Amino acid sequence: MSKDYSKYFTPSLNQARKRRGEKVEIIRFRLDEKYRAVGEDKKYHLKTFGCQGNLADSERISGILEAMGFSETLNEKEADLILFNTCAIRENAENRVFGELGRIQQYKKEKPELVIGVCGCMPQEEITVNALKKRFPNIDLIFGTHNIIDLPAYIFDIFVRHQAVVDVWSIEGNIAEEIPIKREHAKKAWVNIMYGCDEFCTYCIVPYTRGKERSRFPEEIIKEVKSLAEEGYLEVTLLGQNVNAYGKDLEGRNYGFADLLKDLNKLPIPRIRFTTSHPRDFDDATIEAMALGGNIMPHLHLPVQSGNDRVLKKMNRKYTRDEYITKMKKLKEAVPGISITTDFIVAFPSETEEEFGDTLTLVHEIQFDGAFTFIFSPRAGTPAATYPNTLTAAEKKDRLHRLNQVVNQYSLLGNKRFEGAIVEVLVEGFSKNKPDVLTGYTPHNKLVNFVGDESLIGTIVKVKIEKAFSWHLRGVLV
Ligand code: SAH
Ligand code: SF4
Ligand code: F3S
Repeated sequence: MSKDYSKYFTPSLNQARKRRGEKVEIIRFRLDEKYRAVGEDKKYHLKTFGCQGNLADSERISGILEAMGFSETLNEKEADLILFNTCAIRENAENRVFGELGRIQQYKKEKPELVIGVCGCMPQEEITVNALKKRFPNIDLIFGTHNIIDLPAYIFDIFVRHQAVVDVWSIEGNIAEEIPIKREHAKKAWVNIMYGCDEFCTYCIVPYTRGKERSRFPEEIIKEVKSLAEEGYLEVTLLGQNVNAYGKDLEGRNYGFADLLKDLNKLPIPRIRFTTSHPRDFDDATIEAMALGGNIMPHLHLPVQSGNDRVLKKMNRKYTRDEYITKMKKLKEAVPGISITTDFIVAFPSETEEEFGDTLTLVHEIQFDGAFTFIFSPRAGTPAATYPNTLTAAEKKDRLHRLNQVVNQYSLLGNKRFEGAIVEVLVEGFSKNKPDVLTGYTPHNKLVNFVGDESLIGTIVKVKIEKAFSWHLRGVLV
């Protein structure tokens, strides 16, 4: 029997925000025989928006579809299934998806049997899922972040039973293991170490769209990294919305993020990165683990959001400016030359000009190697969406612009310290604009361009840096 989707489930933000202590179940993926050939001779086109978490999910969605016989196409016109894995973090992220859905309507007109699907974080919001259904009633498939594991059944119901599927769960979340993964990159891999977020920063939708914080078992993670190393991968990035909370939910284990780093430090994988850290939970033990060096890369992305204590409190970030500065001082002492990047939100409701000034002085004080900067975007259902915000659009843009100017000044400075140095670069491929120029990243996560040939792609090479720019370094192979 297939599911009766009329009873299933549209999401509820109210349900999604609850943390009721539901037991986390570990579900092991198995593909039922009857689903294996559903995608034979069919092509899918998958487009991903949002964070690395979504990129990692998309690699699983591709893995499942290919196990069902589908093949991938980059050409939307020849696709039998177009699927958007979406992000809800800011209004413009959602607008892009609405725009894309509008744009592909023409293909559906030309080919009515084309299946259009939307998954990821947008469907987890009730307002958005309703808006999606209203504006694009011909969407055939909507599912959320908690039920990728059921994709084979959805695809079967659509392609074999010709039934539209809307199925989004507002649950605390389970952990799915053993889903096949089609990795995008031949040498760099994402490794989820945990899912969800329990921080509830007042502006943020993620705790609602991704469920509660839940950690994978260390042995599953270590096994995955070991096998990646055996397959010749050179870099893994450990993923979680707040990796420093890793392990807190693993009862009776007393095993945290620093323990994981220490264990992974012993494995023969050349590079380990992680994202994202949270300043409150970023602790001495993690600093100690980072100081081991070796395969733990000297780069930390630690979003600070604001340099002002009142604003940080309103954001529910649970640390002060001084605490952040103290931790970064310690880190810089323990890992000399480490590069530190961050995220900022400007024009948070009621942020005054003076309070914004504290954000600028924090950039001068920490001298970040780079920062992602955003204008606050109200997300329906989050507390901050109801806070009065009297700033005009021009004032918001002006703050963003002034912050970017200061941030860019330090990005250049952060790059300049590598002029004349010899650095190791993991070569990604040719630069988009210049066909003979290779591009890749250093341990400090700096982008380097240099002249070289194709055989170097996917290897780690030594490059001497000749000149620093704001966004990249230029060097020569040594
Ligand atoms: N879990 C990570 C990343 C969250 S999303 C963390 O805690 O840092 C990435 C960034 O998007 C955040 O760091 C924040 O700067 C920004 N962001 C999140 N919600 C936002 C909102 N409503 N408006 C503007 N920026 C937002
Ligand atoms: Fe959002 Fe805060 Fe969680 Fe990051 S830590 S995902 S900003 S709620
Ligand atoms: Fe976006 Fe969801 Fe990631 S809202 S930032 S895709 S967790």
